[in-house]
Amino acid sequence: MLDKRGQGVGTELLTRVIEALSQNPKIRNIFLDVAKDNKVAIEFYKKLGFEKAGELKNIFTKDGVLMDIETYSLLK
Ligand SMILES: CC(C)(COP(=O)(O)OP(=O)(O)OC[C@H]1O[C@@H](n2cnc3c(N)ncnc32)[C@H](O)[C@@H]1OP(=O)(O)O)[C@@H](O)C(=O)NCCC(=O)NCCS
Repeated sequence: MLDKRGQGVGTELLTRVIEALSQNPKIRNIFLDVAKDNKVAIEFYKKLGFEKAGELKNIFTKDGVLMDIETYSLLK
């Protein structure tokens, strides 16, 4: 669905997920992993308040090349 990107759908969906999870007082932290080279997604998460929490190197391969991931978290 490339043609749907950049129209606010991702922001709307993830905002709703964050709001729903925020209703649960037991949930203190929402975290996610993202490929380090996925700059669009990283910017997307940062705009929703996620902050970098860590990084792991050589976790998976893309086109035969080892890739790093970054972990982002949103503390409640
Ligand atoms: C990351 C993704 C979920 C964002 O969803 P989306 O509906 O396109 O996002 P939005 O329209 O709400 O845009 C939110 C922000 O994402 C970034 N963004 C979205 N599309 C972009 C594009 N084509 N180029 C650069 N930045 C882009 C921008 O920072 C944007 O903020 P802005 O509107 O203030 O510029 C979507 O691009 C996607 O599905 N990507 C492919 C799969 C992927 O990478 N998933 C994440 C795996 S961890």
